[in-house]
Amino acid sequence: MKDILDRLEQRRTEARAGGGDKRIEAQHKRGKLTARERIELLLDKGSFEEFDMFVEHRSTDFGMEKSKIPGDGVVTGWGTVNGRTVYLFSKDFTVFGGSLSETHAQKIMKVQDMAMKARAPIIGLFDAGGARIQEGVAALGGYGEVFKRNVLASGVIPQISVIMGPCAGGDVYSPAMTDFIFMVRDTSYMFVTGPDVVKTVTNEVVTAEELGGASVHSAKSGVADGAFENDVEALLQMRRLIDFLPANNESGVPEWPTAQSVEDIDESLDTLVPDNPNKPYDIKELIQKVVDEGDFFEIAGAYAKNIVTGFGRIAGRTVGFVANQPLVLAGVLDSDASRKGARFVRFCDAFNIPIVTFVDVPGFLPGTAQEYNGLIKHGAKLLFAYSQATVPLVTVITRKAFGGAYDVMASKHVGGDVNYAWPTAQIAVMGAKGAVEIIFRTDIGDPEKIAARTKEYEDRFLSPFVAAERGYIDDVIMPHSTRKRIARALAMLKDKHVEMPRRKHDNLPV
Ligand code: HXC
Repeated sequence: MKDILDRLEQRRTEARAGGGDKRIEAQHKRGKLTARERIELLLDKGSFEEFDMFVEHRSTDFGMEKSKIPGDGVVTGWGTVNGRTVYLFSKDFTVFGGSLSETHAQKIMKVQDMAMKARAPIIGLFDAGGARIQEGVAALGGYGEVFKRNVLASGVIPQISVIMGPCAGGDVYSPAMTDFIFMVRDTSYMFVTGPDVVKTVTNEVVTAEELGGASVHSAKSGVADGAFENDVEALLQMRRLIDFLPANNESGVPEWPTAQSVEDIDESLDTLVPDNPNKPYDIKELIQKVVDEGDFFEIAGAYAKNIVTGFGRIAGRTVGFVANQPLVLAGVLDSDASRKGARFVRFCDAFNIPIVTFVDVPGFLPGTAQEYNGLIKHGAKLLFAYSQATVPLVTVITRKAFGGAYDVMASKHVGGDVNYAWPTAQIAVMGAKGAVEIIFRTDIGDPEKIAARTKEYEDRFLSPFVAAERGYIDDVIMPHSTRKRIARALAMLKDKHVEMPRRKHDNLPV
């Protein structure tokens, strides 16, 4: 009996050794942890249950039958994060470069299927060289099966991808269909085709970092939702993110104890908006003062900074925040901001996370660059996302809400449940200068007349009261009581239920 137990232990030790000491050392030298070290950091201590550690590939081409490593380049299983179940797979770059074979794909599919049955989130840690070249179409088939499962799980369980090394070819499309992608600076990169192919096809010379490094995807392309300094920071931040997320689309949001009362008022908010309407202020200050203990997890913080998206909690329960950022481009809506906001709103709606929207928006960004890039369709995405959302929508207009952007940003007209404005709000078709120059064009040569017209326009329209008189704004609230008023609105809306018309699916302007 002892022999049998020893044999099991020996086989486990072999599997845990992955590609061997030399390759593990090379991994560490590059500043990367191994697949198993990453799992240890991500999950609660001692909670990891591994599946399929003895699985080996079945390939016999190119002498592969002589080279088998148990686990076949991916470590899979489940564990807990602060006591809540998550499934995961972690690519092992020390085994065939983490490349995907038929059996490697089957291991991933197994945890995808189990996560769906158990209705728990799934996290993929990527560090791999794409399809196992020796396996050809068997590997391609494996990718297809993984992709299909990503799509079936979309909107049912949260799916998170963390890119912690190379991620190219077939490996990029699975993350692309998950809810969030995060990257690690300097050690990770993502692209469909690498620098060599780029050079051959387009004659363009780029490094892997320039083509698909963490800063490219988190700030320029918007493919990634964030970038972290190293593996440790990335994994600890994933634990933090998971604490905000529901287990599935029917579980409701998690609830954590909080020491901060929702009755708290914050006098400093009364002076957040500067007297000069053209002076910016930081909308994140408002978010931080509204959420429990100032704990805000920003999504896509380096991309389209003119809109802020992320998760916080009010009264211990998760809330999604969407806010125009006056500090960047005066908070204007452009194509990137609209896409970023739309994707976030849709995630929250799919998982029953209430949305709080802070509005200070001068309108949509004018110009050929925006129009040629499809601003009409991109802006429509955000409008569509809000109009389609059935979760509680609480909106606070802090300052400008001009033109179409007023409608888009969770206005009453597209489904806002509780719409508040601060006394500093200006809700109008456009700002005073633009308005007066159009409707009093004949007076333009007369500065005195123009000044009088501008004052008249400002007095009449640049306030929250015209909208409040029509019931488009439910109340004009004191800035210092914003947390309390939002908390009460969310509590009142906790069991909101709205049925949408029956249909196969909508046709979002993609
Ligand atoms: C089999 C692979 C592999 C692969 C790497 N390895 N990629 N084995 N299939 N795709 C092995 C290497 O042979 C090596 O084995 C070990 O992994 C480490 O690789 P190195 O090249 O030594 O590491 P490094 O210099 O860090 O380079 C990493 C890399 C490079 C940039 C990822 O390995 C690379 O370019 N690999 C090929 C990438 C690729 O073209 N993949 C196919 C994409 S097409 P030893 O034994 O020496 O340690 C694709 C299509 C799918 O994915 C489409 C589906 C829709």
